[in-house]
Amino acid sequence: MEFSSFSDAHVRRASATMRVWAIFMLILLKSDIVYSNSNYLIGLGSYDMTGPAADVNMMGYANTDQIASGVHFRLRARTFIVAEPKGNRVVFVNLDAGMASQLVTIKVIERLKARYGDLYTEKNVAISGIHTHAGPGGYLQYVVYLVTSLGFVRQSFDAIVDGIEKSIIQAHENLQPGSIFINKGELFDAGVNRSPSAYLNNPAAERSKYKYDVDKEMTLLKFVDEELGPIGSFNWFATHGTSMSRTNSLVSGDNKGAAARFMEDWFEKKGIGRTDSVGFQEDDTPRRVSNIIPNPHDNNHELLELAASFQSPPGKPVTNTSSVARRVRGVLKQNGKPKFISAFCQSNCGDVSPNVLGAFCIDTGLPCDFNHSTCGGKNELCYGRGPGYPDEFESTRIIGERQFKKAVDVFNAASEQIKGRIDFRHAYIDFSNLEVTISRGGAPEVVKTCPAAMGFAFAAGTTDGPGAFDFKQGDDKGNPFWNLVRNVLKTPNKEQIKCQQPKPILLDTGEMKQPYDWAPSILPIQIFKIGQLAILSVPGEFSTMAGRRFRDAMKTVLSADKDFGSNMQVVIAGLTNTYSQYVTTYEEYEVQRYEGASTLFGPHTLSAYIQEFKKLATALINGRPVEPGPQPPDLLGKQISLLPPVVVDATPIGVGFGDVRSDVPKNSTFKRGDMVTVSFWSACPRNDLMTEGTFALVELLQGKDIWVPAYDDDDFCLRFKWSRPFKLSARSTATMEWRIPLDAAPGVYRIRHFGAAKNLLGSINHFTGSSSAFVVV
Ligand SMILES: *[C@@H]1O[C@H](CO)[C@@H](O)[C@H](O)[C@H]1NC(C)=O
Ligand SMILES: *[C@@H]1O[C@H](CO)[C@@H](O)[C@H](O)[C@H]1NC(C)=O
Ligand SMILES: *[C@@H]1O[C@H](CO)[C@@H](O)[C@H](O)[C@H]1NC(C)=O
Repeated sequence: MEFSSFSDAHVRRASATMRVWAIFMLILLKSDIVYSNSNYLIGLGSYDMTGPAADVNMMGYANTDQIASGVHFRLRARTFIVAEPKGNRVVFVNLDAGMASQLVTIKVIERLKARYGDLYTEKNVAISGIHTHAGPGGYLQYVVYLVTSLGFVRQSFDAIVDGIEKSIIQAHENLQPGSIFINKGELFDAGVNRSPSAYLNNPAAERSKYKYDVDKEMTLLKFVDEELGPIGSFNWFATHGTSMSRTNSLVSGDNKGAAARFMEDWFEKKGIGRTDSVGFQEDDTPRRVSNIIPNPHDNNHELLELAASFQSPPGKPVTNTSSVARRVRGVLKQNGKPKFISAFCQSNCGDVSPNVLGAFCIDTGLPCDFNHSTCGGKNELCYGRGPGYPDEFESTRIIGERQFKKAVDVFNAASEQIKGRIDFRHAYIDFSNLEVTISRGGAPEVVKTCPAAMGFAFAAGTTDGPGAFDFKQGDDKGNPFWNLVRNVLKTPNKEQIKCQQPKPILLDTGEMKQPYDWAPSILPIQIFKIGQLAILSVPGEFSTMAGRRFRDAMKTVLSADKDFGSNMQVVIAGLTNTYSQYVTTYEEYEVQRYEGASTLFGPHTLSAYIQEFKKLATALINGRPVEPGPQPPDLLGKQISLLPPVVVDATPIGVGFGDVRSDVPKNSTFKRGDMVTVSFWSACPRNDLMTEGTFALVELLQGKDIWVPAYDDDDFCLRFKWSRPFKLSARSTATMEWRIPLDAAPGVYRIRHFGAAKNLLGSINHFTGSSSAFVVV
């Protein structure tokens, strides 16, 4: 069925294609450049998966107090599908989420099976998280990842599953002949090692092979449609999504999400991005004056008079909800042309921090203790600093922009074409009790992995987020979910203690099964082959050196396959398909910093990965199948959710939803670079996630009375902040903060808010409101 759908499209385009070819051949005859023809079918897709921007704990820092309350910019699922005509195909989804989730993967695959039969299965679909620590939590299925979110959060889960499914459907429907180019570049200032003392425990001979203690390489795929030209890019680069701090409460894709937003906007504007507009120059001089849309009203006085005729109207109900979704970037395939899609994927980021200035004590300002990342013996005072310190938004922008700019360079220079077969292998492995054959110089010996356990250093957290877990017993502040589950804390037996040595066990999660499994034991491992590129999907965060050992071992096996060619490329896709925390080298494990303490299956975890991936790689190059392995559990039916629903929304007497609470000053003029702030009487954002829509919109007046969308809540310059005066209050407010970009057109603007309120009977009613108009010069 699917084959006929894209071959129909192919036929429709055939005559156009012939014309293109005729011209192409003429060019070829006249020049020495030899272009290869398209060899794959390529489809890209992207869909909003922002989820609940209120009340829900954020996934990543395990900080109970980090509750979402607004949007910095939106989260998306971005997908590529590459197919050999009449052959194999692979799907790669990059998620603006902390990590992949086993339950999400299971449900996405179920939906794909219902829609497409056996075309897409767990074997040829990879779902990978960027590791932002600023997305709504509660979408994983194992207890330990649900403690701070008060259990499972259905709304987070549904938004992610829907977003992935829709982005895959788009990619599938966009499949067209095209070609892929691969290129690499080095990016030096977007990551530092946050556990250098553990890295230094790796053998000196091994360390001497590398110039740096983190990987600097970015590997990028450039997708080129036969007719439309470049349609997108995906790249892999290792750095944590921890530019936003553990106290941030705005939903954000952190540095990788920002980079993706910048690059997509850059391309849509053919290099003249609003991306740069967020980059205030030191001297604050406006740039790109030539890019400003000419406005008929260039007279200040005239603009002010015009603005004065648009006073803030009362908030009003909206019945047509599709008008609520008016936003700047519309849906995909506007004007019949798919939007350019650019994804920034995660790799072996385990010990890589984007806080590149280093870690300092907040009390003394001095660097933290090198071996323990403590200040006077206390871990909670040691914080890493990003390049925008002390402004985390600025750090996010800078690390995002560095990745974006590098990706553009690598993209523009990409000339090596991907050629060759597409193939894949996938297996489920039980990591809790695996025999691993290793050799430490002498004769091979057989060692074992252990049931999952987390060490004491886990509770200390990292310099990106100290004091990670609220595990204090007798804490009368009371997290109800923790109170519910902590009674099952298990004392590890002698065998487990010995197996995990030297890790002192804090939580014996692999042996805790009440009320349901605390940690995974069955993990998916997966290899994609796309011509000379191998993508290794791992369900965790490999440290830098663990990643290097792993890639080298795979290169050795895979290079036996001629089809990989002499320019074989291997990338690690981290945090993919499910999540099982960290993987360090044996030597780093010995040091038991946070990453070692969070390497669940004991000191030989990395060796186990290498052993099992070698089997997959060998099967792949020999064209043999692999044992599927044991199925991981589907724990959806067992999930406990303690997050209370929205009860009711209300406004004070005399005002309505969408009424302005605090307007722009009357008759005001702002300069580019200024911040405009307005607030509205609002309702809980959980009533409608405004998926592919927006809560906030900046509109520009064109002519006398036509308002056009200029910036929405997916823009870096516009923040939507939501708050209630106290917990469980029915009243709430929405504050929009717009930092006017330096390349904003001068003219008359207003700021609007869209929301949805729940009444006592439980029905949801949409509303909108607007500020008074104001002038930007
Ligand atoms: C709802 O609004 C959209 C966008 O403004 C418009 O295209 C559509 O026709 C409207 N639908 C109805 C039923 O009025
Ligand atoms: C860190 O620990 C190592 C090994 O115990 C020790 O040799 C080194 O001096 C320590 N470094 C610092 C700066 O404390
Ligand atoms: C607003 O400013 C304009 C132009 O400076 C002026 O003509 C007008 O009287 C002002 N209106 C108010 C209400 O201050």
